[in-house]
Amino acid sequence: MRIGVINGPNLNLLGKREPSVYGDKSLNKLLEHLKKSNSETEILDFQSNVEGELINTLQEWDGKVQGIILNAGGYTHTSIAIRDAISAIDTPVIEVHLSNVHAREEFRQNSVIAEVCVGVITGFGPTSYQLALEYFKNKK
Ligand code: DQA
Repeated sequence: MRIGVINGPNLNLLGKREPSVYGDKSLNKLLEHLKKSNSETEILDFQSNVEGELINTLQEWDGKVQGIILNAGGYTHTSIAIRDAISAIDTPVIEVHLSNVHAREEFRQNSVIAEVCVGVITGFGPTSYQLALEYFKNKK
């Protein structure tokens, strides 16, 4: 099975970005751990701070992976273009967040992409990605 993991803006700064909110693990370490713990699954990963590059990757991976785990960062709350890309592709997408967005500022409690995703996993730190992966692994 091949799964894609897409991380959006500012997630390249994990480890040094607000560690009290996002933890002290770098994005590389998070991905390394995810790949090691799921060695039977081929995991592709992509990070960009650029909205259009996230959209290009959603389109490019469509049909090439069985599922996409997407942490769209701040674009979660604003990007109709990312929402449209998720709607346009056939590959199921799970929205994930490290922090519990519902326990934070009000503007983070609205996701414009949640409705077109299979589901949302929020607040479990790096385990959010693992939980999303479990869904795809268990899916028939
Ligand atoms: C985030 C939550 C978003 O609100 C925020 O803009 C991020 C990270 C998370 O993983 O907790 O960049 O997606």
